[in-house]
Amino acid sequence: MTATVQISMARPGDAVEIADMSRRLIEHGLPWSWRPERVARSIAARNTNVAVVREQGVLVGFGIMEYWDEDAHLVLFAVRRESRRRGIGTAILHWLEASARVAGSERIRVECRRANAAARCFYNEHGYHELSIRQRMYGGADAGIYLEKRLRGLVTPGPSGGDS
Ligand SMILES: CC(C)(COP(=O)(O)OP(=O)(O)OC[C@H]1O[C@@H](n2cnc3c(N)ncnc32)[C@H](O)[C@@H]1OP(=O)(O)O)[C@@H](O)C(=O)NCCC(=O)NCCS
Repeated sequence: MTATVQISMARPGDAVEIADMSRRLIEHGLPWSWRPERVARSIAARNTNVAVVREQGVLVGFGIMEYWDEDAHLVLFAVRRESRRRGIGTAILHWLEASARVAGSERIRVECRRANAAARCFYNEHGYHELSIRQRMYGGADAGIYLEKRLRGLVTPGPSGGDS
């Protein structure tokens, strides 16, 4: 289902809520690495977008994307449990993908836990290909999957000997 979703850029004051959502919804069972100070650094960073969705003043979803030379990296992404399957994750992802295209990124990379069926279905649904499994990710605690979506088509070679 596709919702009408209002996306905005995170404010410094959102760092605590985003960090708390990361601890509960993403990093559960792992050491908490996305603490408020780290999220705040991402909000302030020039090569990073932190997109959020608020409903009735409550932050219900967010996505953090970093832009590097050729790649964009979706580093943290979650929607509150009670707000899922309403298209909020899709809206955030589309917004971040559009920003990556504007930034000139060739591809978007993302990782998730192998056991995270919801995320794997979600990313596959949005054109992300599973590239490889790494057995001991997350500090050795869990297996992870690397996924990628190419934003630009492969360059097709011209006719042989055409321009030399
Ligand atoms: C992954 C996540 C962000 C998806 O957010 P969402 O707002 O529920 O996603 P959407 O409503 O836009 O879903 C779009 C499509 O993705 C697929 N999908 C999403 N959740 C799914 C699930 N639990 N099982 C199977 N498919 C799923 C479906 O095809 C869905 O379309 P549909 O609802 O019409 O069937 C959310 O489940 C989440 O926050 N999970 C916990 C954190 C996490 O895993 N983050 C990503 C890895 S870091």
